[in-house]
This record gives sequence, structure tokens and C-alpha cells, in this order.
Amino acid sequence: MKDIYILGVETSCDETSLSIVKNGNVEIATVTLSQMDTHARYGGVVPEIASRMHTENITLILEELFNKSNLTMKDIHAVAVTYAPGLLGSLLVGLEFAKTLALVYEIPLIKVHHIIGHIYANAIDSQMEFPLLALIVSGGHTELVLMEKDYEFKILGATLDDAIGEVYDKVAKVLDLPYPGGPNIEKLAQTGNASYQLPTVMKRDDLNFSYSGLKSAVINLIHNEKQRGNKINIADMACSFQMTAIDQLIRKTNQAIETYQIPRLILAGGVSANGYLREKMAELAKEKAIDLLIPPMKYCTDNGTMIAAAAYPLYLKKEFAEFSQNAKSTQNLADNSDWYLKKIIVSFKYGK
Ligand code: KG4
Ligand code: ZN
Repeated sequence: MKDIYILGVETSCDETSLSIVKNGNVEIATVTLSQMDTHARYGGVVPEIASRMHTENITLILEELFNKSNLTMKDIHAVAVTYAPGLLGSLLVGLEFAKTLALVYEIPLIKVHHIIGHIYANAIDSQMEFPLLALIVSGGHTELVLMEKDYEFKILGATLDDAIGEVYDKVAKVLDLPYPGGPNIEKLAQTGNASYQLPTVMKRDDLNFSYSGLKSAVINLIHNEKQRGNKINIADMACSFQMTAIDQLIRKTNQAIETYQIPRLILAGGVSANGYLREKMAELAKEKAIDLLIPPMKYCTDNGTMIAAAAYPLYLKKEFAEFSQNAKSTQNLADNSDWYLKKIIVSFKYGK
């Protein structure tokens, strides 16, 4: 079979990232422009600035990508683009850019759901084997997903309120740490001890998550200490928060492994860059004697490579998008029939 080259376009938030991927799992070239330094000045992503910066940079990035890869648009078989979820203006820049390329070069357009992109980051330079359990931990999502086969997703549990990445970012703000909060909390936590008592939430035995209670507990504790005139040890607070937040992921993942007897686990999403989480999941996988796949750091946060990788199975199935395809800012599991990840009650078990 001839080699298939897909151009992946990711602009859902504050990274403009374009990538060329061969046969769904070999990265040929990637150029990513992070807007992090700009948004850090405002303490978070400013949507209007984000879309403006995507617009200013995306064609320059394409040029650099082709300089790096020694390929041209004529070598590309399809353009894949994140269409949801994310910041609407930002998504639209990538989507219209991808549509234009597809139209001019007469190649198929493939729409990719951002979270499915994060899942397929695990396919790059590697092979995803099924059935598998995917733990998705990003700025907008916290989910346990069962994949019996390629491109088939069953939600086993999801957050009932905030996503874990969102809470990392909010707690960082309360601790006066710069944006982005996640990596800064992780760094600070390494120098602290888990000396603050925070509540263990979601003790119930389903596979859903909850993070708003933990967030409120941190905010209240800081507020009360301040009122008493006590100084907060922010390294200890970061460490206590991180331990409690990740503990919930470990407990629920452990429970899912035991319930469904699934022999392999993958991590997906920005929070999977967290060293403490990676370490704890490696311990869990060892204890349960299951395989663990975690994307290399560079594929954990947003990138065009994962979008092209996720588009490859759709290319093979000829599942192409219409040019009328719109961007969607929210695309939740429970309330959106257009989402690939359908909510299905899983009533069987693997193994044993
Ligand atoms: O997947 P992602 O890049 O964007 C979304 O799709 O949401 O994830 C971004 C989230 C942010 O909340 C960020 O703070 C968090 O991932 N994050 C981390 C780390 N690196 C990124 N959280 C904890 N530890 C990290 N090292
Ligand atoms: Zn993401």
C-alpha cells in the first residue's frame, strides 16, 4: 500500500500547530507556535487574542512546515482539522484554513474531535491495542473511556463538575502562580509536603469524578488561614492539592480496571504531562500487571500530530467532512448526539 500523508491542523486553544504524519503514526514534521507567553500576561487565555494570533501565524507556520519536511502540498492526501471542542474563534481559523487547502488542492477534509486527537496521540510511534481503557485528563475533560476496538468509545465515567486541568489552573490562580497553572503547581509541589488535610471526594463506587469540592476546599482553607493571620505554605498547599487530585484518578482507574478486567491503560490530555500522575499510573499498572501507554511529553499538550494520527482511521474508512462543517465550542458527552463518544452502559466484562 502506498504511504498516506495527512496534514493535521490544531488551533482549538492557544497553540497553532501544524503537522505532517505518515500512515497515521510516523511524524514527518511539526511546527507549533505557543501563545502561552502572551496569555500569561493576562492570567489566562484571552479568546480574541488567541484567534487573532492564529490568523496572523498559520500561513507562516505552513510555509515553515514544508521547508522542514521537504514535501509540498501536492504530497498531502488529506487535511485533518480539530472542529470541536474549544474556543469558537480559534477553531474557526483552523477549520477555514483546512477547508481552503482541501478545496484548492482537491483533497479530502477530515474533522477530528479534539479529545479523540488526544487519545490517538498514543498511536504515534506506537501501536494502540484493544481492548483498552483510556483515562482522559485535560483542561476541559476528565473521563474514563473503554475502547473495544479502533474508533469505538464507551464512556465509563466522567466528571460531574470541573475537569482536573481546570482545577489545577484555578488553584494555581488562588496561589498566585502564573499561567499555565498545571505545570507550575507540579513544579512547586516537588518542593513541598502534603501537610494540609483536604477532603477525599467521590468515595461512591461509580466511575464518575468530581473536582469542584476539592477546589472549594483549597479556596476555603486559604481564606481561613488568611483570616487567622497565618501564612500559607504554598509549596505544601500545591503538594497537598496535587496528591488529593491525582489520588481520585488512581482510585477510579483502579476500580475500572478491576470491574472491566481490561489488560491495558492509556493516558490522554494535557494533564498526562504531569510527572507525579505518570509515576502513580506506572505503579498502578505494575501492581495490576497491565500494559500502560503514555504519550511522550511533546504529544501530551495540544499538537497537530495527534489530529493527523486520529484522522488516519477516518481516512481509511473514507469518512470525510462536508465543506459546510461548522466549528463547535462545546461538545459534551452527555448532551451531544454528534459526539463520537456515545454514552453506552457497558454490561459485560473482559477476561476471567
Ligand atoms: O489537553 P490540553 O493541552 O488542553 C485541553 O484540551 O484542555 O490541557 C491543558 C490542561 C491545562 O489545564 C494545564 O494546566 C494542564 O493541562 N497541564 C498540566 C500539566 N501540563 C499541562 N496539569 C498538571 N501538570 C502538568 N504538568
Ligand atoms: Zn487539548
